[in-house]
Amino acid sequence: MGSKARIGFGPLLFHCVLLALLVASSHGVIVGSSKGGSGSLARCNLFQGSWVYDESYPLYDSASCPLISTIDFDCRKSGRPDTKYLKYRWKPDGCELPRFNGKDFLERMRGKTIMFVGDSISLNQRDSLLCLLHAAAPNAKFKRSYKNPVTSYRIEDYNITVSRCLAQYLVDIVPEKIGNVMRLNSVQQNGQIWLGADVLIFNSFLWWNRTNPGRPWDYIQDGNEILKDMNHTEAMAKALNTWARWVDSNIDPKTQKVFYFGLPPIHLFGENWGQPGKTCVGQTEPLMARTYPGGPIPQESIVRGVLGSMAKPVYLLDITFLTQLRKDGHPGRYSGGDCTHWCLAGVPDTWNLLLNAALLEWN
Ligand SMILES: *[C@@H]1O[C@H](CO)[C@@H](O)[C@H](O)[C@H]1NC(C)=O
Ligand SMILES: *[C@@H]1O[C@H](CO)[C@@H](O)[C@H](O)[C@H]1NC(C)=O
Ligand SMILES: *[C@@H]1O[C@H](CO)[C@@H](O)[C@H](O)[C@H]1NC(C)=O
Repeated sequence: MGSKARIGFGPLLFHCVLLALLVASSHGVIVGSSKGGSGSLARCNLFQGSWVYDESYPLYDSASCPLISTIDFDCRKSGRPDTKYLKYRWKPDGCELPRFNGKDFLERMRGKTIMFVGDSISLNQRDSLLCLLHAAAPNAKFKRSYKNPVTSYRIEDYNITVSRCLAQYLVDIVPEKIGNVMRLNSVQQNGQIWLGADVLIFNSFLWWNRTNPGRPWDYIQDGNEILKDMNHTEAMAKALNTWARWVDSNIDPKTQKVFYFGLPPIHLFGENWGQPGKTCVGQTEPLMARTYPGGPIPQESIVRGVLGSMAKPVYLLDITFLTQLRKDGHPGRYSGGDCTHWCLAGVPDTWNLLLNAALLEWN
């Protein structure tokens, strides 16, 4: 194992953050390896741009998508009456985001498994992809199956599986005598599930950033120490490093593509977009701005640092900024004031258009 794989999170982290930032600004996308390259995407940063009103949107009608997991995402069904939020298309500055051709996507993915790994934001994105594909092939059979912690839909005509693996923290959470222990240094258990996927989209952030009860662990194991709790930002850095070592030793970039979804914003604090005291509730339009007043999410630098230290190519789906602008995209008052998840149709469709663009360009 190279020394790279055991980078600590002292001064070295800052070194690699800096390095990753340099890579980021020169290529526009980050691939976790100098060998990986970023293809012709390097000419256009897909993640810098603006939202433009487009009458032809949304890309599907949620009322005809039977694959939305929870009414929370189905804002229309929950009673949201305004529709302008459905009609924004993401326009990168230097190019056009490729249109989503569902039939073509299905053909390209024939025989493959696409797995979203993470928390409910992964479910949001998975459901969006299912709706986009269902709209393209309304007669195809989507067969659901569940084997804890994975829910899958097999699109039988195309032999494609689209799944979501619940793993809010990526690392293993193991039941022990004292309670559930989150092991910052292990993804062995979860990794077994990921091995079979051809396209993996990892997302882990929101649960690290919260203190609420309801979390699925009682203790954190850091090395040989079992702790009641610790600094979550530092824990996240350790867990991501564990995940990165797993990817480096288990992924075959010839057949498998790995994405990191980084990082999803929430809209609970209006001071972040110039409306102190407000939340996403009642918002009907995006923020039309070139930068987000609240700035980047601080933990983004951890993600960039970890990806920058990896030997295998990982594509950063760098959706933070474009998603920060979409204070109008949440279920809001139509679902208990939810300013974390996203309406479908809506913003997650754009995440999938970006995923599609990256897959088109990767080869
Ligand atoms: C479906 O795809 C898998 C994985 O590529 C392959 O092993 C299997 O033979 C395919 N099944 C059918 C019915 O085409
Ligand atoms: C957690 O650690 C981070 C990074 O070391 C530090 O910036 C932050 O202040 C710490 N948070 C707390 C609550 O101590
Ligand atoms: C992370 O948690 C802090 C402290 O509760 C909060 O202010 C911040 O908005 C959260 N950020 C995100 C992106 O969830």
